[in-house]
Amino acid sequence: MKIDIITVLPELLESPLSHSIMKRAQEKGLLQVQVHQLRKWAVNAYGQVDDYQYGGGAGMVMMCEPLANAIEELQATTQYDDIIYMTPDGATFNQQTANRLSLQENLLIICGHYKGIDQRIRDHYITREISIGDFVLSGGELAAALVVDAIGRLLPGVLNDETSALFDSFQDNLLAPPVYTRPADFRGWKVPDMLLSGDPKKIDDWRHDQALERTRERRPDLLKKQDL
Ligand code: ADE
Repeated sequence: MKIDIITVLPELLESPLSHSIMKRAQEKGLLQVQVHQLRKWAVNAYGQVDDYQYGGGAGMVMMCEPLANAIEELQATTQYDDIIYMTPDGATFNQQTANRLSLQENLLIICGHYKGIDQRIRDHYITREISIGDFVLSGGELAAALVVDAIGRLLPGVLNDETSALFDSFQDNLLAPPVYTRPADFRGWKVPDMLLSGDPKKIDDWRHDQALERTRERRPDLLKKQDL
């Protein structure tokens, strides 16, 4: 899968995407992330990409021309399945969207800044608008990094244990059950006997019950969405 990202702050995306699982996904050639500096398509030698908003009001707006030129130049060599704009007024990102996007070949993500991007770019190029939650970040970069991480780890071959993403919280609208590692007794705090029983069927049932209980306690809203 290839993901292109357009931003005025490429530095903000470099670190989150160059460690651990995202690093491995790229090294294995399963994920190719390319970050493009929008100022390359600036309207003048000062690198201008934003301007005052029509109608007045505080805050700059990212201009049509640099964004349109950037998108069209990238589109000349890549057919995008989705052109995504990161924005607090988009659809709230969740595991279902991550699953769906992980099946795509090519994505283009636009990171907004300041007051956001000119509405005409949204109207004419953007195919999907994503928010990572009901709060406002200073730009779309951290939100984009989060979306790339959530998608990237789902690509076949990225996780060592191929099945482990299946048991993540939110797959099947259930939170994940509690997990334990050695020692079996730490300061008298014991690992539940069931996990030491060696009976895979019973352990599976126990984990499912724990997941249900945890979901009931913390996120009862999720249970309404799933087939019990
Ligand atoms: N840009 C600023 N805030 C954002 C949010 N909550 N989600 C996605 N992009 C954003």
